[in-house]
Order: sequence, then C-alpha cells, then structure tokens
Amino acid sequence: MQPLQNLDVSSARRPSPGRHSLVVVYLQCIVLGTLALTGGAVAHGCTASPAPEPGEEFSGGETTVFDTTANAFALSARNMSFERRQQFFVGNSFFNKNWVTAPASTTARDGLGPVFNARSCSACHFKDGRGRPPESLDEPMLSMLIRLSIPGQGPHGGPLTHPDYGGQLGPEAINGVPAEGIATVTYSEQSGSFDDGTSYSLRVPTYHFSDWAFGEPQELLTSPRTAPAMVGLGLLQAIPAADIEALADPDDDDGDGISGRANYVWDVEAQTLALGRFGWKANQPNLRQQSAGAFLGDIGITTTLFPDNDCPAVQIECANAMNGGTPEVDDDTLDDVVMYSSTLAVPGRRDFDAPEVLRGKQLFFAAGCTDCHVQKWQTGSQPDLPEVENQTIYPYTDLLLHDMGPELADARPDFAADGNEWRTPPLWGIGLVETVNGHTYFMHDGRARSLMEAVLWHGGEAATSRDAVLAMTADERDALVRFLESL
Ligand code: HEC
Ligand code: HEC
Repeated sequence: MQPLQNLDVSSARRPSPGRHSLVVVYLQCIVLGTLALTGGAVAHGCTASPAPEPGEEFSGGETTVFDTTANAFALSARNMSFERRQQFFVGNSFFNKNWVTAPASTTARDGLGPVFNARSCSACHFKDGRGRPPESLDEPMLSMLIRLSIPGQGPHGGPLTHPDYGGQLGPEAINGVPAEGIATVTYSEQSGSFDDGTSYSLRVPTYHFSDWAFGEPQELLTSPRTAPAMVGLGLLQAIPAADIEALADPDDDDGDGISGRANYVWDVEAQTLALGRFGWKANQPNLRQQSAGAFLGDIGITTTLFPDNDCPAVQIECANAMNGGTPEVDDDTLDDVVMYSSTLAVPGRRDFDAPEVLRGKQLFFAAGCTDCHVQKWQTGSQPDLPEVENQTIYPYTDLLLHDMGPELADARPDFAADGNEWRTPPLWGIGLVETVNGHTYFMHDGRARSLMEAVLWHGGEAATSRDAVLAMTADERDALVRFLESL
C-alpha cells in the first residue's frame, strides 16, 4: 500500500506495471506562507496543513447544496431545472406517503403488504437520511431490515432465498396475515486500546430471532442492514462502469493488500448480469431496480419490474390476500420515485479549509483510507438525468467490495459478494447524519456508535489502515474525525 495515493482516480490502484513510479502525488504544503510542492515520498515529512483542493467543497459537483439544517439530505439537486422540480416533488410525496392496506378508498395509494417492514420509504430513510438499530429490546427494528437466505445460489447467482421466509424478514403484516417473525439485537462490549494507551470499547452485536410464524427456519443465513442516506445516488449511478471496473484488483496484482472486487448482479430489465453499485453489498445495478425492489421487499408494493408479492408456498394467507392492483404502483409513479431517489443533492463540505480538517484529510490519505474511499470521480453521461451528468464529485468510495474481516462478516453471500465482503460506502454527507437523523450509528448494521468506532471496526483488507489510526496521537485522531465530520 502506498502511504499516499494519486488524487486522480484514473490511475489509482490500476494494476499497471510501474504504477508506483508513475504516481504523481503532490501534497500542497503551506510552509512559512509559501506554497511549496513536494513529491509523494517527501510529503510524509510535511507537517504543515496542505491547501484545500480547488472545488473540493462541492462534494456533489453542481448538484451540491450548502444547508446544514435537519433538511440537509432532503433537497433537490441545485442544478435542477424548474420543470424537473415538479417531478421531483411528486416523487418526494410518494417517498414520504404512508401506504395503506388494499382495497382502500384512496386507490392510488393502496397495496401495502401483505407482509412488510415499513409503510413508507421515508420510515427507514428518515429525512432522506440513514436508519439505525433499535436502542432497546422493546423497540422494533424500524429503519433497518434483515436479509434472509440459505446456503447455495439462486437464479442468476443471487442469494438462495429461504423456502418458507423468502429473502427478507417481514416483521409486519396486514390484518389476517401472519407476520414472519421478530428480530432483536443485543450487544456485548469488547475493549481495546490505541497505541498511546487510550482505551476504547466496541459493541459486538448478536441477533436473536423469535415468533417464527412458519416454524424455526433451518440453515438460515441472515444479514442485518440499516437504511443508507439517499444523497448523491444518481451521481454514483453516472460513474462509467468501466472506470469502476478499472479500479478492481481482485487478485491484488499490485500487492498493496487491497483487492477491490466488482459485484455483478442480475439486471431484471436488461436480463443480464450488470455491475452492482447500490446496497451494502453492491447487490443492485441501478436505482430503478433498487427502488422497485424496495417497494416490493420493504413495503409489499408490486411494480412492473417485480409484479408478484413474495409469498412463499407455506404462507397461504399472504398469497390469498387482496392486492391493490396489478401492479400496485404504475410505471409513472415508479419513474417519479426513481427520479427523486436519483437527484437528491449532496451536501457541500463544512470547514473544508480549516487547518485541523486539512490535517485530518492528510492523515486520511496517509492511512490509506483512499485505497477504498476513493476521493474523486468524474461522472459520464446518464440518459434522463441531466443533473448528474459530467460532474466532478467527491464521494469517497470505489463502489467495490472489500474483505473487511471476520468481525464485520455476515457470512451470507450476495451475488459475487462473499460473507466477508462489503461495498465501500460513500462518505459524503456523513458528518451531517447526527444533525439530520439525531444519531451517529455507522457501518452496515449500525454497530458503530461514532465515526471513530466505525474506523476501529475496519479489519481484513482495511486492517493496515486501522492500525495506522491506532498508531495516531490523540490530536491526529481528533483531526481525522474532524475531517470525516466535514464531509
Ligand atoms: C425497512 C426499511 C426500508 C424501507 C421501507 C425502504 N428502504 Fe431503501 N434501503 C433500506 C436498506 C436496509 C438499504 C440497503 C439494502 C441492502 O444493502 O441490501 C436500502 C437501500 C436503498 C437504496 C440504495 C442506497 C445506497 O446507498 O446504495 C435506495 C435508492 C433505496 N433504498 C430506496 C428506497 C425507496 C425508493 C424506498 C420506498 C419504495 C425504500 N428505499 C424503502 C431500507 C429501507
Ligand atoms: C479495504 C477498504 C477500506 C479501507 C482501506 C477503509 N475503509 Fe472505511 N469502509 C470500508 C467498507 C467496506 C465499509 C463498510 C463496512 C460495513 O458497513 O460493515 C467502510 C465504512 C467506513 C465508515 C462508515 C461509513 C458508513 O456509512 O457507515 C467510515 C466512517 C469509514 N469507513 C472511514 C474510513 C477511514 C477513516 C479509513 C482509513 C483509516 C477507512 N475507512 C479505510 C472500506 C474501507
């Protein structure tokens, strides 16, 4: 692993011979008021703060908005035209609406269930932000879900869904239909210490399942996942697949200990395997399929993409329940929700030029975080989404899968992702989660209670990075966290 990596993604971690000699990293150090450019090797000894990169505060390019209120994630792309805003607002209304049981007086809004997790998209993506695990045993899982499967592969290489419980635990159901079961989580503390002796504690989750309506499932594989924030998703979709694939290094040919892998998942409309980008394991190829999948899996609403409710054979009441139309949501409404999901603005950076933040950024690069949390991308063309085309963005992700070690593993494969692998999540906006959602629970299952705990959970390919953080002084750790909070 290089202590510093090229800021230009086009040559980062591509397994090209002689890459190391080609790396042209220049850290801008302000030394005694003069701008001195130093090469990557020398930059390690550079103690002054580097200067901000021009434009880096515009994390989402021209979509970026500067709003630091609880609405920070809920705004439309700044560069959206007035005409397109109308569709955005319609999509927004469907994202926030509570769906009700069919048949209902408001026929346009029916079709909830039969089995479901929540009544609206925004129940989990609250304020277009992120979900969290329950804070006590009495609290149901309100903004996270549990994926289910059994060992083996389903059609097209996806997870083999459980014969009696399907692909996702449905803890809620409409009247007359049994809910599938209940999941709860408890934690045990595991202590550790930084190299300077400062101690910390991480909470290790254990999931418990009860009230199974159709008998205790055998050989069950489970994967708990919180709802991610909704900002900037269209921009991530607009990164050319070839550019992401160029960063993949599945066999670690460059020997840096980081072997990003692309997930390839079934694209239902194209009827082919496609690069996965969305979800904690990059198990969805695009926002249309992700949103239609959420309608069906999370709320029990059918679309033309997924026209049938997922009622396993034993769930007779589920199969016999009234539905709210075929499909329950028409293509126009789905289009509106997809447009909405694709065009939520990315929040701009706060304090991006504060010396401590710049110091933290330097440490972030030096610790190898950018080997996976790739700072910068250029989006390509994106038919129907003018806002996200040809933008320079700073999402801090490579959208690739990484082995994060056994501690984070869910031991459940998801297409090409194995039980140890997770997609590098984007970090843009992460410093505003507390403002928007009132919590600081991070990682796929919300086990980390702070940004530093999230870093301390890194293992596997990220162990070297984590160790670099363990070796930091308290001031350096504060600077690193300040940088993350500025994203
Ligand atoms: C029960 C909670 C829940 C509900 C309700 C829900 N989601 Fe999600 N959403 C999630 C979770 C959990 C993930 C991550 C899924 C995964 O990793 O497999 C997710 C992921 C997403 C993503 C991809 C985000 C990313 O960063 O990759 C989009 C887009 C999305 N949801 C849209 C929607 C829409 C649209 C609706 C309503 C139709 C909806 N969601 C309803 C929990 C929910
Ligand atoms: C080998 C790739 C890799 C490296 C190196 C890496 N990360 Fe990550 N990071 C990930 C993955 C994958 C996740 C999600 C893991 C999970 O949810 O279980 C993640 C999650 C995070 C999160 C929580 C994000 C969220 O939405 O919950 C933060 C914060 C973070 N990383 C910061 C860092 C910092 C700081 C460093 C450097 C010290 C770093 N990462 C190094 C891959 C990496």
